[in-house]
Amino acid sequence: MSKKILVLAGDGVGPEITREAHKLLKALSDAGDLPLEIEVGAFGGAAIDQDGVPLPAASLALAREADAVLLGAVGGPKWEAIERARRPERGLLALRAELGVFANLRPAVLYPGLEAASTLRPEVVRGLDIMIVRELTGGIYFGEPRGIAENAEGEREGHNTLVYSEREIERICRVAFEIAAKRHGRVCSVDKANVLEATELWRTVATEVGADYPESRLSHMYVDNAAMQLARAPGQFDVMVTSNLFGDILSDLAAMLTGSIGMLPSASLDADGKGVYEAVHGSAPDIAGKGIANPLATLLSVAMMLRYSLNASGLAEQVEAAVSTVLKQGLRTADIMSSGCREVGTAEMGDAVIAAL
Ligand code: IPM
Ligand code: MG
Repeated sequence: MSKKILVLAGDGVGPEITREAHKLLKALSDAGDLPLEIEVGAFGGAAIDQDGVPLPAASLALAREADAVLLGAVGGPKWEAIERARRPERGLLALRAELGVFANLRPAVLYPGLEAASTLRPEVVRGLDIMIVRELTGGIYFGEPRGIAENAEGEREGHNTLVYSEREIERICRVAFEIAAKRHGRVCSVDKANVLEATELWRTVATEVGADYPESRLSHMYVDNAAMQLARAPGQFDVMVTSNLFGDILSDLAAMLTGSIGMLPSASLDADGKGVYEAVHGSAPDIAGKGIANPLATLLSVAMMLRYSLNASGLAEQVEAAVSTVLKQGLRTADIMSSGCREVGTAEMGDAVIAAL
């Protein structure tokens, strides 16, 4: 039985990088390793231009039917002036919420040879391998009430709500412990329990869940310290689990440790392993259409898709190995370029990975 994949290319560099992922998926499918049915849908700013909304009903319906969704990127200056509720980013948040993909896995891995691309010293980042587990469908991103309104003094006031239920915290912590069990067994739960009650509960529930995983080691860290530690000594982390907003921020920081945000894939999973896969980076409007964007984060997202939604971890490892091979060959997109390497564009990088498979 073939599996259904939906590709939502979106905006900016989205179409370029997902083109490479599409080629890779097709190559795997044509090789007979994994029969796939690949469909495409409108999403983000591109969908706003077509249908007036960032997540058209037709795209959502396709996403619900699919076994996995591959996302490009959304947003750009063109759509920044539209009312908030219809902006491209809202489409992304709606997709996450509608599909219930609460567990966002963002591995920050430094590939050998890319030490020089990081702004940190090679000895600080060498061998880096962190899994950030970010809660994705709750917290301050979705809490109500929210909005901008006039207060009693006639002044504009913006407000958002940070809310986490026990169940939401528990399920994301379980995901983190299950992943840690297959790694080094260390989970660092990141919160701001010294100030925010919602994350005080986070710490309590994380501790309770941790009791079910005696073979793992749980530690807690305040988010400000976690940011500092990531820049100071990132090698201390194995799995980090945290809330939606903290995870958003810390994963960008972790991305830079690996040399470029162009290297970081992600998986967003529901309770049954269905997932949305996307690069951690954004739509990069400044380089869109130039054919220079790094497709590796998206290709590595395909590897995560193979592992978590398509039950093909062997193929996932092959894709990851192909990326390593291509980097060892000295091929680099502009964002990870260093002396002695050969600079290539998006399509050439994609072709090289497929050839290395
Ligand atoms: C991410 C992005 C999104 C987020 C934006 C585009 C809504 O920054 O996936 O990290 O904040 O979650
Ligand atoms: Mg982000």
